[in-house]
Amino acid sequence: MSAPWWQSAVFYQIYPRSFATGGAGTGAGGSPTGDLAGIEAHLDHLSWLGVDALWISPFYPSPQADFGYDVADFCDVDPTYGDLAAFDRLLGSCHERGLRLLVDLVPNHTSDQHPWFRAARSSRDDPKRDWYIWRDGTPDTPPNNWVAAFHPVPAWTWDDATGQWYLHQFLREQPDLNWANPEVVEAMHGVMRFWLDRGADGFRIDVVHGIGKDPELPDDPPEVAGIPHSALNDVPQTHELIRGMRTLVDAYPGDRLLLGEVYLLSTEQVATYYGDGDELHLSFNFPPLYTRWRAKRWRQQIADTHRLIGERPGAWPTWVLSNHDNARHRSRYGSEERARAATFLLLGLQGSPVLYAGEELGLDDAVIPPDRVVDPGGRDGCRAPIPWTAAPDHGWGVTDAWLPWPPDPEYRNVETLADDGASILHLYRRLLAARAASPALQLGGFVLLDAPDDVVAWRRTAPPAAAGDTVGADALRSGDADEAAGDGSGGDADDPSDRIVVVNMGSAPASVAVRGTVLVSSDGTGEGAPFTGTLAPDQAVLIVPTR
Ligand code: GLC
Repeated sequence: MSAPWWQSAVFYQIYPRSFATGGAGTGAGGSPTGDLAGIEAHLDHLSWLGVDALWISPFYPSPQADFGYDVADFCDVDPTYGDLAAFDRLLGSCHERGLRLLVDLVPNHTSDQHPWFRAARSSRDDPKRDWYIWRDGTPDTPPNNWVAAFHPVPAWTWDDATGQWYLHQFLREQPDLNWANPEVVEAMHGVMRFWLDRGADGFRIDVVHGIGKDPELPDDPPEVAGIPHSALNDVPQTHELIRGMRTLVDAYPGDRLLLGEVYLLSTEQVATYYGDGDELHLSFNFPPLYTRWRAKRWRQQIADTHRLIGERPGAWPTWVLSNHDNARHRSRYGSEERARAATFLLLGLQGSPVLYAGEELGLDDAVIPPDRVVDPGGRDGCRAPIPWTAAPDHGWGVTDAWLPWPPDPEYRNVETLADDGASILHLYRRLLAARAASPALQLGGFVLLDAPDDVVAWRRTAPPAAAGDTVGADALRSGDADEAAGDGSGGDADDPSDRIVVVNMGSAPASVAVRGTVLVSSDGTGEGAPFTGTLAPDQAVLIVPTR
């Protein structure tokens, strides 16, 4: 049986407010906020780049307390972003180009302005009351010690009118749905069918590990009290609910996908959300995202991910370094050289990569002056608008978008970088092309290679590497690079079934004993030539090994 599309796909996250404008917010010309028509108008960039599938962050009607993750209607489009017809056009254009599209499903909570919550809040007797999680008590003592995300405040708000507390793992404007109520399950399944029937290729599922709750709502243990409950909630009830979602999507033709956001900072816990191949098809795994630029730490993360997810039956890893919730990895790692080298982790490791719009431009986070802060979670910097051109409006038709531009937009914009063959944008494109041409990189086996302290190196082979079919563990340590580089005859550049990736995370040059031809190099040097055996600081290479 051939592998489903999402195992070899490269995903690309779009934050619709910040991607591009087609003028939906104003009716014409420019707009300070992006929209669905703006995405459609820039699909050429994504096809040229070479990604396979888009995940679009929420575009539902929303009061925007959490910029769309507070949903007031799960089956419509906020006028800021367009309408359902604009969604249908976008989806059609994606499919014409062979791009898949994932909708962001937000099952854990609604907006407090959603008609369900307005009804629930109207009276204790309302039929929708039990669609949310209410507890008795007194206004001074929340029902348990759970802490909400973003600010260290209780995950409970007292509703004076009806004299009970309601639960919200995020903002008080985002009350948690009660998935223990079968009516909620049915309603959210209806939402999933709504988008699948329109042709969506699946869902990125927001905080999916949060939807089940221990019915006793026990206190979080004292040693973790203070950590938002949304990063701790891990109960058996959720797995049953995810199996229900999986049955629903698997009944549709075309390998529709569940890509879950399991925000538990343990790969061991994340792995359980794949179930026995009957829960999530893919899950985000965030511990690598929070790993510093140190080879020793990365080797550990890679080994853990491979052991716990890569080798788990029915599971397949994902890799992500940036998204709308975290400082961009270019900013975290501190240099373009490192951002370039990190691309080899994303696109070279075994699993499905998820890129975040703008990382292909090497964008840094924007500097947000205090009077421009809008996000309650302090995440504005990574959500800055994408610069498309060098002109003062950067392709938006307005010179001041909803957030300040990221640094250096006169250079770091799509138009300028596309004209510069040495840019990071072209590096992304070359690596994506190299990946698309290599079954080893897309679906092949994986072996971590022993390497000098500051270096992370691995081999990908297709079909999956048989036991013992590895590069000798000591091979990469054997000092003399000149000798190690061998006769310089290079590898068989036409053989796509064997690849080695080497990343030097150190601040000094590193020598590794690999022989072959450099296919892609993070600084662009030496491509097409025999590998010299030496890597510059923060340099990475993709090599066709000499057998
Ligand atoms: C997820 C989203 C984040 C949002 C939160 C609440 O973590 O990625 O942006 O604030 O869920 O919906």
